[in-house]
Amino acid sequence: MSDKKYYIETYGCQMNFSDSEIVNSIMAERGMRQAQGAEDADIIFINTCSIRDNAERKVWDRLKYFRSLRRKQNNEKIVGVLGCMAERIREKFLDEHKLVDMVVGPDAYRDIPKLLEEVEDGRKAVNVLLSLEETYADISPVRMTGNGVTAFVSIMRGCDNMCSFCVVPFTRGRERSRSADSIIEEIQALSDNGYKEVTVLGQNVNSYNDNCTSFAELMYRASQVNPEMRIRFSTSHPKDFPNELLHVINEQPNICNYIHIPAQSGSSEVLKKMRRPYTREQYLELIDNMRALIPGVSLSTDIITGFCGETEKQHEETMSLMKFVRYDLAYMFAYSERERTLAHRKYEDDIPEEVKKRRLSEIISQQMHIQEENNALELGNRHLVLVEGTSKRNEHQLNGRTDTNKMVVFDQVDFQHGDYVEVEITGNTSATLLAKPIRKSSIGEFYSTETSVLAVD
Ligand code: 5AD
Ligand code: SF4
Repeated sequence: MSDKKYYIETYGCQMNFSDSEIVNSIMAERGMRQAQGAEDADIIFINTCSIRDNAERKVWDRLKYFRSLRRKQNNEKIVGVLGCMAERIREKFLDEHKLVDMVVGPDAYRDIPKLLEEVEDGRKAVNVLLSLEETYADISPVRMTGNGVTAFVSIMRGCDNMCSFCVVPFTRGRERSRSADSIIEEIQALSDNGYKEVTVLGQNVNSYNDNCTSFAELMYRASQVNPEMRIRFSTSHPKDFPNELLHVINEQPNICNYIHIPAQSGSSEVLKKMRRPYTREQYLELIDNMRALIPGVSLSTDIITGFCGETEKQHEETMSLMKFVRYDLAYMFAYSERERTLAHRKYEDDIPEEVKKRRLSEIISQQMHIQEENNALELGNRHLVLVEGTSKRNEHQLNGRTDTNKMVVFDQVDFQHGDYVEVEITGNTSATLLAKPIRKSSIGEFYSTETSVLAVD
């Protein structure tokens, strides 16, 4: 088996990308090498997402492509489905479509070598068991496709929130936290290997708890690993955002001033049906508090339009909430009914597709306008940008993000990937800031100068 080459194609959220790195590690341990693409692989894995119907459709299309590839090349490629879709439709995969040889759920990746052997023996192989304990804490992810500057670190798995629209609790199982020590060790190893930014991941990081280490404490420990390493986190549920975390973010210059805090809707009635245990007013109070404790904090959200029974007035409430908060970034989706969820069992998916789409395009165009205005306010501001790569449009330009998660493009001069560069913003679109580079800098230098300027003021 070890002379075989494998290829992983990953769809969906950051957590899935992080999981693919765990699979890389498991495969590397067995001496297996990565192929350049599906075409030259002996084993093709597709790490899947079930969150909306269009995510699943993409995967079906790819599986059909892999089948045609198998026929065309007339070879014995093994095709394995990993991740969220695996759990949900395993029988369909194996029996009806003959598209897939193995199915592996998100908690069963350690079993992949054994499952591959079963497939080699001519059997179809399945393990979709969800676990109460698996956190892959002892597996060091192998980051093969990244930029060498930024990395994801999963700190927990699963979700217990049971939002009525969401399939994740069914596909990824119960919430569990990985040990704080293993997380800190992984961040230390990343720092030792030259990484400059870590994003810690969980479906709701606020509820992280390892033997009484809270998320705020974990973030504090993470910030102490290397003061020149940036720490980000995602995602936070508005129902239990810890106040203490706001203080930690404010006090530690290397914890980024950026919070992804999905509202989902601006209507308290819709939120209730979504089983999101907060009202519009409580959400807005939380935002006020964030802004009071972290001046200049950047905020982003997820929004769903056209949830079951959503009225025009409730849609307007979402529009007004977004206008009120003025997010720097928003991920916006039309509601997509998922089997097994409470909404599927209890409510009718009764908003016509064209109404969902129209509402979606209304919130998107309002949001683009707000982002453009927010970004225009940045003109003349100084930011510290961590260089992540070379601009796709112009090879003489670099791109990277501000502490507040805004993408910035500027001339390369002699800066390298992984450098911190102080820049001055000179232009903008709704998605990107353009800047003039000033000098190579560091977190220590940039923020101490900022403070001394404030002190002189
Ligand atoms: N339909 C549309 N969007 C959904 N999300 C989760 N489930 C659904 C669904 N059934 C969105 C939510 C969540 C984000 C990751 O995906 O906004 O925060
Ligand atoms: Fe889904 Fe809600 Fe859990 Fe997020 S918090 S993964 S939306 S159930």
